Amino acid sequence: NWNLEDFVSKKIEELRETLAGKKVIAALSGGVDSSVACVLTHKAIGENLLNVFVDHGFLRKGEENEVPKVFKEMLGLNLVKINARKRFLEKLRGVSDPERKRKIIGEEFIRVFEKQAQQHGATHLVQGTIYSDVIESAKSGKKTAAIKSHHNVGGLPERMNLQIVEPLRNLFKDEVRLVGEILGIPRQILYRHPFPGPGLAVRILGEVTEEKLEILKEADRIFIETLKETGWYEKVWQAFCVLLPVRSVGVRGDKRAYDYVLALRAVDSTEGMTADWSKIPHEVLDLAARRILNSVKGIGRVVYDISSKPPATIEWE
Ligand code: XMP
Repeated sequence: NWNLEDFVSKKIEELRETLAGKKVIAALSGGVDSSVACVLTHKAIGENLLNVFVDHGFLRKGEENEVPKVFKEMLGLNLVKINARKRFLEKLRGVSDPERKRKIIGEEFIRVFEKQAQQHGATHLVQGTIYSDVIESAKSGKKTAAIKSHHNVGGLPERMNLQIVEPLRNLFKDEVRLVGEILGIPRQILYRHPFPGPGLAVRILGEVTEEKLEILKEADRIFIETLKETGWYEKVWQAFCVLLPVRSVGVRGDKRAYDYVLALRAVDSTEGMTADWSKIPHEVLDLAARRILNSVKGIGRVVYDISSKPPATIEWE
């Protein structure tokens, strides 16, 4: 009886009525929930929805091109891409405390986004809140916020007097993905691992530099490709690399090397609140480590993180 095709057409109709003649804004990151919420709203009100894609420079390799390609070129959304790489990197210069990094990125993001909202004359803000978010914030939102300040456009609605639109509030994650399929969003977006708002900036422990970003992007690309090739990508909840602010001695050719240590992280989880480290076969880890050590300049040692949550968290910062 709960037919998702029905949900889609009714929701579009409903959004069309409530948002008639309104200017609406959304932050589109390419994450599953925001993507589905944005495409759904786009189907209802077209150009009146402005989708803002902020390239803060901490995205995975190639993502800054892939997201506009899918949503603007393929799906026809009204999307602006803001290249704010320099700004974010400058703000983070000399900063190594994880919470300060998160706060700075969150504030800067709001500043960039606010400007777009004003220019567009937005009165409404679309958010990809889903049912588990509603439950979590009712239950323990305060508690998790104390562990890490999560990155979203929180603070903006009050500051700008924006009304919130949450078309996915009543859906579970798997339903959100199915709605996404109905809307024609490609699988590579819908079945991608979760990714934190502050992105690679919290996967480079300590100060973020351009050089370290390049190293991490390349290593992460190789790890993820290896998991895809071996069929492990879809078996784990999330997998990624973390660049440590530690260097270690090694030998390359006949010479002494002194390069960074990289951690591979993969976890099994259902909603991210607890997690077990993934029991990826040694051969797969071996393949990823060899490839990374052979081709990523600057990395001299690769380790695998075998910590579960709790007491560790999934991300390292
Ligand atoms: P932790 O590290 O707290 O992460 O165990 C739990 C899940 O949340 C993701 N994560 C974030 N997601 N904004 C997000 O939207 C954030 O600031 C953020 N920080 C962590 C993390 O990748 C994992 O899936």
